[in-house]
Amino acid sequence: MNLDRSKALFEEAKKYIPGGVNSPVRAFREIGMNPPFLVRGEGSKVYDEDGNEYIDFVSSWGPMILGHGNKAVIDALKNQIDTAIGFGAPTAMEVEMAKLITELVPSVEMVRMVNSGTEATMSAVRLARGYTGKQKIIKFAGNYHGHADSFLIQAGSGALTHGYPSSPGIPEDVIKHTLIADYNNNESVQNLFDIHGEDIAGIIIEPVAGNMGVVPAKQEFINFLREITIKYGSLLIFDEVMTGFRVALGGAQSLYNVKPDLTCFGKIIGGGLPVGAYGGKREIMQKISPVGPVYQAGTLSGNPVAMSAGLATLKILKNNPEIYQNLEEKGKKLQKGIENNIKNAGIKAAVNRVGSMITLFFTDRPVQGYSDAKSSDTKQYAKYFTYMFNQGIYLPPSQFEAFFISYAHTEDDINKTIQANKGALQA
Ligand SMILES: Cc1ncc(COP(=O)(O)O)c(C=O)c1O
Repeated sequence: MNLDRSKALFEEAKKYIPGGVNSPVRAFREIGMNPPFLVRGEGSKVYDEDGNEYIDFVSSWGPMILGHGNKAVIDALKNQIDTAIGFGAPTAMEVEMAKLITELVPSVEMVRMVNSGTEATMSAVRLARGYTGKQKIIKFAGNYHGHADSFLIQAGSGALTHGYPSSPGIPEDVIKHTLIADYNNNESVQNLFDIHGEDIAGIIIEPVAGNMGVVPAKQEFINFLREITIKYGSLLIFDEVMTGFRVALGGAQSLYNVKPDLTCFGKIIGGGLPVGAYGGKREIMQKISPVGPVYQAGTLSGNPVAMSAGLATLKILKNNPEIYQNLEEKGKKLQKGIENNIKNAGIKAAVNRVGSMITLFFTDRPVQGYSDAKSSDTKQYAKYFTYMFNQGIYLPPSQFEAFFISYAHTEDDINKTIQANKGALQA
């Protein structure tokens, strides 16, 4: 595959941008190759500077659930740009967005828009502390909640991929308030409550983890978290930045049939533009400024351009429930195809999937938590990635991420991917 223009651009980029990228995993460092510089997206395909075409399973890391260049989303954006780009004043679209989110996710009675997933989780934790008057939070090893100080301790995603799951630069005084528990392990959570129970403001969790690869929480585990947080007067915070409107219209919480106190969103609610949101029980949300004392603000929060793309996306999802059925069918087909290929190639690997989020782990054990995920052979993944890439299949360049299937993926895309996967596993 010719990547000459991308290579030249990457060399240039590295002179002016740390690592040549504005977010670490994009640099393909763990894969050991140059990243393609992308120029165009259409449906399930993306195209790079050298004119190569790829079937895209990164989907902008989740937001593009409808595929690239969805006409209704583009029309909404064009319309909005012709009318106004931004005011920093209230607009009707923000009301519509808030109403729609509260309608689709019943645990959310009020919602505040922000500009990224990081802002959503960071603000939700501040609110949990402000509301409960407690200081500590529990997070799970291998879960990623963005790059705010409290979360970069045994974090997943790029932090895990690049070997710095706990980042330098975070004061000890901050670190001591983040308690780490094991995913899907009730006892590890109980132990922390036994010691620190009176000072735990909340538990934050990816209900279906995507940032150590896809690892679903067990139903009993989620039930336990709900019970123990109620018992101790702590808040249960679902980080649905990735799973919100992805694994189901009502998010992961609808699959587990549980009501968290607060929920964080991002990715899909922006339709591809930078958006985040956090919401939950009215009584808790009323503690946010200007009605309450917990301060949080944003110059571009709820800006009309992002709202137009997000609203257009959410309305399509709401009005076409068959989309989730379609994603499930394609997901199931891809999973089965990969599992068959694993069996036929006689290799050790595991596939985890929830709806349209899927990860192939190169490990010989079932993956139920961080230590299982970390047992994966990342060198093997890098080889696998490179083979697939050369077949025109664009996967996340890290073992610890999810492949995202979009509504735009065709049967043919899935068949081609299964075929390429067969070759990769045999090679
Ligand atoms: C579950 C989860 N939470 C939070 C974030 C942070 O979102 P952002 O990158 O928009 O700050 C991410 C990003 O991948 C995520 O997957």
